[in-house]
Amino acid sequence: MSAPIVLGIESSCDETGAGLVRGGRLLGHALASSMDEHARYGGVIPEIAARAHVHALRPVVQRALDAAGLRLSDIGAVAVTTGPGLSGALQVGLAGAKALAYALGVPLYGVHHLAGHVAADTLGHGPLPDPCMVLIVSGGHTSLLLVRDLVRDPIVHLGDTLDDAAGECFDKVARVFGLPYPGGPAIDRAARVGDPRAVPFPRPLAGSPDHRYDFSFSGLKTAAARWAEGHAGRELPVPDGAASLQEAVADVLTRKAVEACAEHGVDTLVVVGGVAANSRVRSLAEERCRTVGITLRVPPLRLCTDNGAMIAAVGDLLVRAGAEPAPLDMSIDPSAPL
Ligand code: KG4
Ligand code: ZN
Repeated sequence: MSAPIVLGIESSCDETGAGLVRGGRLLGHALASSMDEHARYGGVIPEIAARAHVHALRPVVQRALDAAGLRLSDIGAVAVTTGPGLSGALQVGLAGAKALAYALGVPLYGVHHLAGHVAADTLGHGPLPDPCMVLIVSGGHTSLLLVRDLVRDPIVHLGDTLDDAAGECFDKVARVFGLPYPGGPAIDRAARVGDPRAVPFPRPLAGSPDHRYDFSFSGLKTAAARWAEGHAGRELPVPDGAASLQEAVADVLTRKAVEACAEHGVDTLVVVGGVAANSRVRSLAEERCRTVGITLRVPPLRLCTDNGAMIAAVGDLLVRAGAEPAPLDMSIDPSAPL
């Protein structure tokens, strides 16, 4: 019997995502975002995000079905993000997923948001090799993980950020630089015409024996703010600041990821999460991996940031691994550990 079509639902932050996956293949997906509604506050407002999911969920599921040329009745299983994320936002996705699974009489699976980011890469590039090193860099996370079988084996956490996540650093510094929200893409765009060597920003925890695979970005954020303050009364050379900040972040991220691969004898590095969309993170990772003979995998841009396809990808792996479905009284876990 062929594998069922899995609907994946993502609602942990400001994106409402739905994706349809069968046997490792993406059939269609759709996305709605409440980002514009948060922009004037400079960050995601949980209540606004939750309400936006209520409106977006059903139309987004329909658009994903339309994109795949499928009907609701074709869905054979439902997978949904249960955490980590904003609790109100997660609740909306989970309630919708439960309603669909119950009405369709199909199994329901809970998915860890970060496992979703890792699985996103399988949709573009096929199954992940065992083992592989995964660098997750998003607005909420910066972690180095040693992954074997994503749904069967425990993930080994090698390191984490000790304070801000890399995406958070981009978002906060962008605000100081007067760039629009979300800051990551704005820094990336501004950096295109800047000089990455213009400002000697620090490389936090690089070479630290006690924190070999940990990261820290709050000092970098402060350094960028001080640099901006130093220009009071003069025009701030934003492109140079953006390019230099991006260079510092890309440098520490890729340096530690490649060192972790070497130490653990792993020959594949997967870079996932919203910050994997950053052009300098991508180019420096490519350069460094090529130099030491590591295969680099980065999901297609549209699958790097939050989406429903990545949740469907984990659901599809769980179904094919014969995992036990979740009960209909499953709860969210906003601060889920990996
Ligand atoms: O994975 P994601 O969509 O949501 C979370 O789970 O956090 O990541 C969002 C983060 C934001 O901080 C955003 O500024 C950052 O990813 N981001 C970027 C770029 N595109 C998105 N950061 C740097 N350069 C980019 N091109
Ligand atoms: Zn995410």
